[in-house]
Amino acid sequence: MGAVREELTLRIDSPEAMRRLGERLGERLEPGDFVGLIGELGAGKTVFARGVAEGAGVAPSQVASPSFAIVYTYRGRLPLHHADFFRLGDEEELYATGFFDLLGGEAATLVEWLDRIPEAAPGEHLLVHIAGAGEEVREVRLEPKGERHGRLARELVASFASNG
Ligand SMILES: Nc1ncnc2c1ncn2[C@@H]1O[C@H](COP(=O)(O)OP(=O)(O)OP(=O)(O)O)[C@@H](O)[C@H]1O
Ligand SMILES: [Mg+2]
Repeated sequence: MGAVREELTLRIDSPEAMRRLGERLGERLEPGDFVGLIGELGAGKTVFARGVAEGAGVAPSQVASPSFAIVYTYRGRLPLHHADFFRLGDEEELYATGFFDLLGGEAATLVEWLDRIPEAAPGEHLLVHIAGAGEEVREVRLEPKGERHGRLARELVASFASNG
């Protein structure tokens, strides 16, 4: 309980460390994986997401341009859906975007602001809670659901501890 939670919590002291943490996750993503990022404005969700894309073999130029779409799909080692729910009102609005048709298959999915519409997450998923903003050191807490995502979380922590 307490020990498990402790084990899945990391202290991230720079944007570069946050990017690398994302990268380590991206390297491990498999089809069907679902990752939800939760943290206040400026917490570092997009820094993390860019690292994930990089680790998944997505060319940085695909991720570089911000736009107003809810979901982008990148081509890497596997397809990666990158969504941001910040501007969404409710689940119905999300349905209208076609988001749910994208899930599953060969792609992995990464959602910023999942807490806006938590119902969007499938039963098995990995939540990444980022606490802190501005120049504060971030506390990143991994909360997996299901065996596959639990293993993913433990491997991520182990890999980050040994290689940064
Ligand atoms: N330890 C840290 N980890 C991550 N980002 C950090 C850290 N320290 C400072 N920063 C800075 O905080 C900012 C995080 O911005 P980012 O766009 O990733 O946040 P966000 O969570 O996506 O915000 P929003 O919800 O507004 O899109 C960046 O400018 C980054 O350089
Ligand atoms: Mg963002």
